[in-house]
Amino acid sequence: MSSLPVKKFSKVLVTGAAGFIGSSLSQRLLDEGCQVIGLDNFDPFYSVKLKRHNLKGLQVHSNFKLIEGDILNEQLVADLFAEHTFDVVVHLAAKAGVRPSIVDPESYFEVNVRGTLNLLKQLKHTTDTRFVMASSSSVYGANDNPPFAESAETSLAVSPYAASKKAGEVLCHTFSHLHGIPTTLLRFFTVYGPKQRPEMAMAKFISLVDAGKKVPMFGDGLSARDYTYIDDIVDGIYRSCERCEGYKIYNLGNSAPVSLRQMIDCVGEVCGREPIIEQFADQPGDVPLTFADISLAQKELGYSPKTSLRDGLTHYRQWSRAHPLADELSIW
Ligand SMILES: NC(=O)c1ccc[n+]([C@@H]2O[C@H](COP(=O)([O-])OP(=O)(O)OC[C@H]3O[C@@H](n4cnc5c(N)ncnc54)[C@H](O)[C@@H]3O)[C@@H](O)[C@H]2O)c1
Repeated sequence: MSSLPVKKFSKVLVTGAAGFIGSSLSQRLLDEGCQVIGLDNFDPFYSVKLKRHNLKGLQVHSNFKLIEGDILNEQLVADLFAEHTFDVVVHLAAKAGVRPSIVDPESYFEVNVRGTLNLLKQLKHTTDTRFVMASSSSVYGANDNPPFAESAETSLAVSPYAASKKAGEVLCHTFSHLHGIPTTLLRFFTVYGPKQRPEMAMAKFISLVDAGKKVPMFGDGLSARDYTYIDDIVDGIYRSCERCEGYKIYNLGNSAPVSLRQMIDCVGEVCGREPIIEQFADQPGDVPLTFADISLAQKELGYSPKTSLRDGLTHYRQWSRAHPLADELSIW
């Protein structure tokens, strides 16, 4: 059940369509009968081969078209909006990842803020196109009042990535307010599953445990994340596309945080091997806990995550064993 009315849609622009969440969402949209234009610049942050592989199942579909290009290219973005009338724009293209943002904050602000601005500048010419954008649980910073509700403090970011996501949110509010763009911001909580970014901890841990190698554990293992399975996130995005109106922010999480040590133990169970742990100091920019209050998304979107960590990890491991490309770890 959801309290917001469902509005049909058919033509969707997905930015970041070659990425983990973008390719998974595009598949769902095609399955639902939508026409999907995917925009992606194949940023080399991780294996470009993996991104091309993500698109293989989509490109056989006559309702899918890939535009290879950069959201920073204003002319390309303007031409795209001149050529197509979109019912929904799902903006997922971004520089993702907390730790690399500390080394290169400029490029995070460039893509995550100026890139978002380029899309908003085109959207202001229409009030019919809905805008659904990926934000992040990282905007809650080191919040010590869990679970985190959408109304919680979000101005105390502890990484440039988080700050860039918050800046993107504020920019969306301004454009929605000035130009009436129906806008929904989705704060994702650590998304995992098939096609997952290879630099994310779980992907690395599974391949290390399977190989009988040491697992690096940063901190004492008590830091916790609200790991959320990709199919649950995709369902939340789809529901947001159907119900996007006014200016809204929703948490999409699992609302069941798991400590790092518990996650490593669960990886061990799924792989059928005892993990060998090597402990390191805490990483700067990391927060101790993420924990989503999902009551608003449950009420207004009918969002209801269903996948346990154990099931989700099992699905991911099955997929990664069938796709050896997933082991191309580019930044670890
Ligand atoms: N995966 C998570 O746990 C998580 C958590 C919170 C928020 N998010 C957000 O969700 C979105 C998708 O994340 P993901 O995990 O799928 O990441 P991803 O890196 O797999 O996907 C992002 C895609 O955007 C593309 N891209 C980057 N810069 C671009 C540019 N300038 N122009 C066009 N395309 C560009 C990349 O090539 C990539 O394919 C991002 O906005 C991310 O910040 C993800």
